[in-house]
Amino acid sequence: MTTKNSTQRPVTSSRCGPLRGEITVPGDKSMSHRSLILGGLAVGKTTVSGLLEGEDVLCTAEAMRKLGASIERCDDGTWEIHGVGVGGLQEPDTVLDMGNSGTAARLLMGVVASAPFTTFFSGDASLHKRPMRRVAVPLEEMGAQITSRSNARFPLAITGQDLIPIDYHPPVASAQVKSCIMLAALDTPGITTVTESKPTRDHTENMLSHFGVTVDVTQNDDGSRVIAVAGQQEMEGADILVPGDPSSAAFPVVAAAIHDGSDLTITNVGLNPLRDGIFETLSDMGADIQISNVRLQAGEQVGDIRVRGGMLKGVTVPPERAVSMIDEYPVLFVAAAFAHGTTTMRGLEELRVKESDRIAVMAEGLKACGVSLEEVEDGLIIHGRAVPPKGGATVNTELDHRIAMSFLVLGSGSEEPVTVDDGAVMETSFPGFTTLMNRLGAKIGPKGAS
Ligand code: S3P
Repeated sequence: MTTKNSTQRPVTSSRCGPLRGEITVPGDKSMSHRSLILGGLAVGKTTVSGLLEGEDVLCTAEAMRKLGASIERCDDGTWEIHGVGVGGLQEPDTVLDMGNSGTAARLLMGVVASAPFTTFFSGDASLHKRPMRRVAVPLEEMGAQITSRSNARFPLAITGQDLIPIDYHPPVASAQVKSCIMLAALDTPGITTVTESKPTRDHTENMLSHFGVTVDVTQNDDGSRVIAVAGQQEMEGADILVPGDPSSAAFPVVAAAIHDGSDLTITNVGLNPLRDGIFETLSDMGADIQISNVRLQAGEQVGDIRVRGGMLKGVTVPPERAVSMIDEYPVLFVAAAFAHGTTTMRGLEELRVKESDRIAVMAEGLKACGVSLEEVEDGLIIHGRAVPPKGGATVNTELDHRIAMSFLVLGSGSEEPVTVDDGAVMETSFPGFTTLMNRLGAKIGPKGAS
């Protein structure tokens, strides 16, 4: 349980009518981290438009600055980066604070594994609980020296070495693990390969190609993928357009889907096929979702999403789809709570090691809101009754932005208001969430405000 402190800002969401309007959502978090990291490693100028200016990404910007990159926000909202070149990192003079961000932590561990100095990492209470062995093991196999708390937890220090290439088969399906190894490979002579049994989001592959690095991807007949990176290639600065984050879009999409009469359009959303499981699942549940204007932008699929509200029905979500929507389960649990019938969501072991144990924390909050469910080790089975849940609870967010936003979506449709103990955590990934939702018709505000 996270300790309470006086800076927490409780936020309440009360039942509202249909949500209507056209919006954009903040930039994709995964792509924003990668654009700062790759821009900081490239030679020459990189410009980034649409960067997510959330706390997680700002931690990455600050860390890359400490490692020698020049990173500035311009008056027009674009970001300009002058990188140090692969192999050109400088020794940071303080600890790199990764805040709440597992992605920043794991990707930057790969970045510094070949740098000829020691880098110290730390983060917030949530990050200090998260498993880092999954990246420490391959990095140590490549030759990096890592000193950590027990069980490879943060804080930790990495002393970079001349690395050797490896052929790694990650035991967990994780884009962060894959990307960590690919980034370590950039300054490693020879060819490093990662073989993933289930394809994970491929933003690192796409963006490295955009920066002029050759990445060979082989799709095997059994569905696995081999990603090969030859080290010590030139990386040239590039222009990046970051689309809206589909993981952020999922919150207003579910909020609209559960309110009869809603009609919401979100333009310019990233629709990478390895990330779009939530929209497929909501469609399976009977949501009226239309995707249009699909186009390629800097190697990534982007489009507009229109959703109209109505009654959802319970479904069994194929466990193999989990990897393409892992961050969206908390808000999918909310959709399931409003649906007619049972929704079974399994194969979600990874949800237990995110910013919080998202299965346990969601189960506790949903039960407090009157939702009937069964918690199993690898997921939740939710029994929707086709009537709004009771609500009326105060939910602990456990420093987890997606828990906070999920329960505020729940409160928008439950009989009684729902309060989250700390709305500030939403700044991690979705600055302006409350204002944007209220513009569409939601009633979200500080606890106690009328
Ligand atoms: C991310 C990968 C996913 C996801 C996280 C962002 C990334 O984590 O949950 O929010 O940007 O690579 P895992 O790779 O650990 O599944």
